[in-house]
Amino acid sequence: MEKKFKRTLITTALPYANGPVHIGHLAGVYVPADIYARFLRLRGEDVVMVGGSDEHGVPITLRARKEGITPQEVVDRYHAIIKESLGELGVSFDVYSRTTSDLHHQTASEFFRHLYDKGEFIQKTALQPYDEKGGEFLADRYVLGTCPRCGNENAYGDQCEACGSSLNVTDLINPRSALTGEPVKMKETTHWYLPLDKWEGRLREWILEGHKEWKTNVYGQCKSWLDAGLQPRAVSRDLSWGVPVPVEGAEGKVLYVWFDAPIGYISNTKEILPDSWEKWWKDPETRVVNFIGKDNIVFHCIVFPAMLMAYGDNFQLPDNVPANEFLNLEGDKISTSRNWAVWLHEYLQDFPGKQDVLRYVLTANAPETKDNDFTWADFQARNNNELVAILGNFVNRAVVLTHKYFGGTVPAAGELQPVEKQLEADLTATVKALTEALETFHFREALKQAMEIARLGNRYLQETEPWKLAKTDPERVKTILNTALQLCANLAVVFEPFTPFMSGKLAGMLGMGQLSWDMAGSLDLIAAGSQIGEAVLLFDKVEDDQIQAQIHRLEESKKANEAAAWRPEPQAKDVDFDTFMLSDMRVGTVVECEKVPKADKLLRFLIDDGMEKRTIVSGIAKYYKPEELVGRQVCFIANLPPRKLKGIVSQGMILSAVNSDGSIVLLSPSSPVAPGAKIG
Ligand code: 2FM
Ligand code: ZN
Repeated sequence: MEKKFKRTLITTALPYANGPVHIGHLAGVYVPADIYARFLRLRGEDVVMVGGSDEHGVPITLRARKEGITPQEVVDRYHAIIKESLGELGVSFDVYSRTTSDLHHQTASEFFRHLYDKGEFIQKTALQPYDEKGGEFLADRYVLGTCPRCGNENAYGDQCEACGSSLNVTDLINPRSALTGEPVKMKETTHWYLPLDKWEGRLREWILEGHKEWKTNVYGQCKSWLDAGLQPRAVSRDLSWGVPVPVEGAEGKVLYVWFDAPIGYISNTKEILPDSWEKWWKDPETRVVNFIGKDNIVFHCIVFPAMLMAYGDNFQLPDNVPANEFLNLEGDKISTSRNWAVWLHEYLQDFPGKQDVLRYVLTANAPETKDNDFTWADFQARNNNELVAILGNFVNRAVVLTHKYFGGTVPAAGELQPVEKQLEADLTATVKALTEALETFHFREALKQAMEIARLGNRYLQETEPWKLAKTDPERVKTILNTALQLCANLAVVFEPFTPFMSGKLAGMLGMGQLSWDMAGSLDLIAAGSQIGEAVLLFDKVEDDQIQAQIHRLEESKKANEAAAWRPEPQAKDVDFDTFMLSDMRVGTVVECEKVPKADKLLRFLIDDGMEKRTIVSGIAKYYKPEELVGRQVCFIANLPPRKLKGIVSQGMILSAVNSDGSIVLLSPSSPVAPGAKIG
């Protein structure tokens, strides 16, 4: 039997405040959560959506060290950017807070203390990497060493970025501190562990038996964790940044970031509902839904639920955890450190007023069942071919024709013909499919169905052609335009969760009052005789140059990454001196230079080598204009056997250096020398 809930608490993964948010965060978490929250609110349900920044953890301290500022300064900066940009995108949080707040520190601290007092932790002493010079324990990320798999000398204590292996600190060869460069010692330290194994039985039953309806990616990950058997997990760390462990003798220790962050959902609820928050967490009639990305599944489905079970007090476990897969960008993994991302705050600057377009594209292409790719070409195509050409066009036609024939007054519908009856049936079926898709977190499918209503509208106008009937059958035109306007009103309702800005504009244009989901499917939403507003453009085209500018930015980012990652080639095998001396290298002056016809890479040089003029063909046409080179001195190997290239006999080879980005740079003497001067 379906469980009946009175209210829904929607949580959204707390983004680390060590950088702004990007489209991967949006597609994975914030856009789907917002769609769901708006849908439930339109249905009149009691909903609270909580979010906030995750401001503890090693990545933040790393960023602070790198920039020479304090962790607090780092999180202050990014929390502000994240909060503002998500707000501007229309993500309708009831609260967006932060884990450095006093309320959160108190809540997390009390949570730990409660488990501690109940004897829910095991205390264990283990060896941890320690930097003697710096006098501190090191998080795995702060330990560098040689990767045992690939030999990369700068592998981290938890991962080698060169070969992708995940590592333990003890796997590293010659581990050293990233802070001081000193060799790392292993030293004993005591921590508190949550024995997840104690909760394994209950977790198995709750998920594997009780939640077979969860998305297969989520269910599957939980099953494999549970089947592998759970182990106690440390919930404290030796670090100075975080919520201090509230136990005597625990100086210098803080709660592990993954212990305090999910408690942030509770603190944030408390922050807006100081008197009734408990109802939202402990009443079985509350349904909790966690929106997260796939890398967070274990923490939300295993660790946090075990913490809540250990706490007791009737804390409710999530009813669903609709985790998404990852979104890639132009075929590559999104990466904050490599600046391979579309940052939300930059998007909002570059595409002012186009929040809905991003929301639409990220939903249409959401990584719901597998990783997906965002490309700027797809962004442009979806805007121009779908939002502008289908949705915007239909609404515009209906509104403009109403003004043209009826001065903007909604005409009364006469008797419905079979075409309207069919349309009504199609609309009902589409709204049903759309509602079911939203209820089951299939937002891509839901959006497709919503768009189907605009397609129905275009087909309807195409078929009935009211513009041809204006003179001959004005009564029929009234029915058609009334019906078309009712469809527009449906669009205002069903698109509200997806594209709330457009929906607001459209509802305003049609003079609709408060929207609600149960209006969807009706062809009687706006009254005949009421006045509609002038046609307002709902979407406009995204031009090629806007897309080119974005692609250019990504290319620049790729170049910068390649340059940063570039290492010279390993040195070639030794060659004996006499052999080397056999090559005759000289300087010559370029007398003529021109492109070789039908060969885009080649230039033909005529070089004065002091004795005669020799021809050399060289593959540098991409990097130099021939006229720039005339008169310059170049270095060349003179004693190579002649070679024919595109029918031209080349007598030697011009010397150049291949730069980190693959570009070619000619070598020249630093001041003029006599043509034919030997190099050696
Ligand atoms: O993966 C992350 O970005 C984490 N900051 C998510 C935390 S979710 C929650 F538990 F707060
Ligand atoms: Zn490696």
